[in-house]
Amino acid sequence: MSEGFKAQWPMDLGAPEGSLEAKQPRPANIGKDVVDPARYYSREFMNAEWEYLWPKVWLLAGVTSDIRDAGDFTVFTHGHEQFLITRTHDGDIRAFYNVCPHRGNRVCLTDHGSVRQFSCPFHGWTFNLDGTLAGITDEHTYDPDLIRHRPGLGEVRCDTAGGLIFINMDGEAPPLKDWIGLPPGYIENYEIEHMNVVRHVRSEWLANWKTGVDAFYETYHLPHIHPQTQGVMEDYSQVDLYPNGFSRMIVPIGVKSHRVGDQDNLDPYQVAFLAEAGVDPDSFKGTPRDVRPAIQKAKRERGKQFGLDYYDRLTDGQLTDSWATGYFPNVQIGMHPEGVFIMRFTPHATDPERFYYDNITMFRYVDDPGFTVPAWMGLPEGTDVSGEIRPEVEHVPAGVNPELGEVLDQDVELVAAVQEGVKSRGFNGPLWCEQEDRLRHFHRELDRYLSGGA
Ligand code: FES
Ligand SMILES: [Fe+2]
Repeated sequence: MSEGFKAQWPMDLGAPEGSLEAKQPRPANIGKDVVDPARYYSREFMNAEWEYLWPKVWLLAGVTSDIRDAGDFTVFTHGHEQFLITRTHDGDIRAFYNVCPHRGNRVCLTDHGSVRQFSCPFHGWTFNLDGTLAGITDEHTYDPDLIRHRPGLGEVRCDTAGGLIFINMDGEAPPLKDWIGLPPGYIENYEIEHMNVVRHVRSEWLANWKTGVDAFYETYHLPHIHPQTQGVMEDYSQVDLYPNGFSRMIVPIGVKSHRVGDQDNLDPYQVAFLAEAGVDPDSFKGTPRDVRPAIQKAKRERGKQFGLDYYDRLTDGQLTDSWATGYFPNVQIGMHPEGVFIMRFTPHATDPERFYYDNITMFRYVDDPGFTVPAWMGLPEGTDVSGEIRPEVEHVPAGVNPELGEVLDQDVELVAAVQEGVKSRGFNGPLWCEQEDRLRHFHRELDRYLSGGA
């Protein structure tokens, strides 16, 4: 057995050209610009984003499995805006500003649930699942001209792709399918629509939302901030840039980082990963380099055993590695066959130095005691993964530990320190290397929007 790739830069896992795993050519015009660090803290920059970016892009608002049945709804908050996403009786998914046309109150005050109708808590106006007005309290006390247009909830564009729900506040933006820069099948192959949210934590961080995105867009920092990952993860990831600011990094998992001196003995994390995939570590005779292919083989067999047909569309690499995929501008999804980790970085309504980090864990439930949730998914003891109950969103204020595990603890601390540093008179702007190409690509697309070019 062989590991199938060599950890060298530029990192290329060697997948055939034209496949979804293939290394994309590095754009010749990627440049070496140094951006003005004011983008990480200035109010002018924040205001420009509110004018030219947020209303123009498709924003990840939720997942389809959260609103499976008619009457189900979910609320998505983005800065001062809030959206109500509903499943109508026709089976359609619709999205509205969560704003009452009467006096502007929030119509819905819970994160998600199921209703027959929405009723505004202020004066009791009611609205149907398709946003139309159902009733006005004491309608006889209104001038009929004022309400002749039967004011309903203001609708926004809404579309779905691969089990994900997106909204767009702009009437002019291209359709979702043209805007997503990923090749067909890329996201669909994971069948996210059959996964359920099993944990959703929304924590507030003391940094600009882009300081957050940047920190999760590269693995260059792994050996320094998260040295514990080196026993089971390569930190040279395969970086690929796609159109419209989209990008991904493939992080090889199951391997020891090339930086680790001892490449002869298994790391305890590798042993644990083997056991989890159903390989008995005691009878495993391979070297650290043989672990990744052994896990892939075992997972392939498990896929067959449990009737997971979609595994057939995933490469061996996808069975072990994390395909950390960036949806411009503010989402990254860590993709695995068992489940996905959605990270969403949403700006604070008024403070450019705060953002909300949504961490949404989704799991594909298999109704068989032999198929359990992997420990590396980091779910707290006793988490219900059956998908029968959508867990409440855990809202965690700034300064309180979101309990997302050791690696995320390290990132919380890191991101706050970076935010402090980028404001210094002594900092002249980030010097991104090739391992940070995704940051360059992301900021370039952002600048295109802010200059009105998109
Ligand atoms: S603000 Fe909604 S009914 Fe008055
Ligand atoms: Fe990190």
